[in-house]
Amino acid sequence: MIPLSLAQIAEISGATGDLIADVDATVTGPVVIDSRQAGPGGLFAALPGTRADGHDFAARAIAAGAVAALATRPVGVPALIVPDVPAALAALAAAVVRRRPGLTIAAITGSAGKTTTKDLAAQLIEPLGPTVSPRNSYNNEIGHPLTVLRVTEQTRYLVAEMSARGPGHIAALCAISPPRLGVVLCVGHAHAGEFGGLDEVARAKAELPSALPADGVAVLNADDPRVMAMAGTTAARVVTFGRSPAADVRAAGVVLDEAGRPGFTLCTPEGSAPVRLRLHGEHNVGNALAAAALAGQLGLDLAAVATGLSAATARSRWRMEVTRRPDGVTVVNDAYNANPESLAAALSALAAMARGGRGFAVLGHMTELGAQAGELHEQAGRQAARAGLAGLIVVGEEAAPMLAGAKAEPSWRGELLQVPDAAAAVAEVERLVRPGDVVLVKASRAANLQRVALALTGELDRTEGRAP
Ligand SMILES: Nc1ncnc2c1ncn2[C@@H]1O[C@H](COP(=O)(O)OP(=O)(O)OP(=O)(O)O)[C@@H](O)[C@H]1O
Ligand SMILES: [Mg+2]
Repeated sequence: MIPLSLAQIAEISGATGDLIADVDATVTGPVVIDSRQAGPGGLFAALPGTRADGHDFAARAIAAGAVAALATRPVGVPALIVPDVPAALAALAAAVVRRRPGLTIAAITGSAGKTTTKDLAAQLIEPLGPTVSPRNSYNNEIGHPLTVLRVTEQTRYLVAEMSARGPGHIAALCAISPPRLGVVLCVGHAHAGEFGGLDEVARAKAELPSALPADGVAVLNADDPRVMAMAGTTAARVVTFGRSPAADVRAAGVVLDEAGRPGFTLCTPEGSAPVRLRLHGEHNVGNALAAAALAGQLGLDLAAVATGLSAATARSRWRMEVTRRPDGVTVVNDAYNANPESLAAALSALAAMARGGRGFAVLGHMTELGAQAGELHEQAGRQAARAGLAGLIVVGEEAAPMLAGAKAEPSWRGELLQVPDAAAAVAEVERLVRPGDVVLVKASRAANLQRVALALTGELDRTEGRAP
């Protein structure tokens, strides 16, 4: 973080001090919400959690070296008291950005692929200068300020991930750290239930291009009409990416290797260059093109973009994470999250990876789809059936319409099972698989199906299945 005294932090956030001996004590960061990550010079933000209240851990954070806590009530150790901790974090983050006028800020939004694209873009941009990008999926009113607060005097680039569960969310994140470049990946069904429909999702995502300045760049997906329509909502110059021949940055000759990793020719106005991604699944072509377009706008030349994309690895876990077991069974852990679009992408990747062997899918339910949930699950079941799988294992009652959908597909020849929980799914997979088979595990975060994947790869004991 940019060093700030407790007095400065109090002024920025409107806090009053409690038990603070020295208002000139300086916070240098990190700003953390987990007391176990607190250290010298840090600030501990106390948040109410679902299982525990951060206020109960403030003393531990101070003992670990944190200068003070940011809290809504006295906690028995030096604290800055504010009515709303996330709002205080947002104010602090905005103040840090204001103190760094030379910082170039790029933001990425969309219904699927934000984290993947952010990780790819960060790996391309890092050689240009010190870059801050979110850990995992830090993309909301808490994660975003925490990311911004990692910016130091040295940071040149901030690559942010921005998510929305309702109107105004992305605008609020943009207000904290006004981006000069903004990427919109796609408008899909993620959280569509909460928004009311795809048009409402589109309106929320459009808050990013709307927030860009006239000397900024909106990087838009030429393959998604709802995203392309955002060209009319931005003052910024528009650069497009996608499979469409009309896109400024596009992929030609896409092929998947035996592990489902895409290779293609990257075509840009500067010329073309070959790329072989290390990520699995054809859907990552679009994410790679978005990252390429962004890095190109920041001045990275075509050759560096192509070699950078070919060297980039998946930094965030449980997204098409491929593990080959010693017995020759391949496990694809895509259990971080699911929506109809990402499930379709994962099924097509599975089909490519299972060429020559057999493919199995262990699928759980998708959340936040609203009134269309039943129909969308049924559709997903039909897609799974059409993917030519050897088996579909549906986990949990809420995912049951997938089973009905698969059954209704006349071409279906495989095993079709419904199981109550992760343990039962693991037992069925172990009974069915043999060397050469590929097993995809996917569901929404709430289904916790990573436990299936981690049990299949023998990791469950080490991680206890906790989210990364
Ligand atoms: N372009 C895409 N189209 C469809 N699915 C995708 C695409 N990119 C990634 N996915 C899939 O979507 C899931 C989430 O990917 P990722 O974490 O990159 O997205 P995200 O937008 O950051 O998600 P979240 O909203 O949970 O933060 C993964 O299963 C991934 O394989
Ligand atoms: Mg994410």
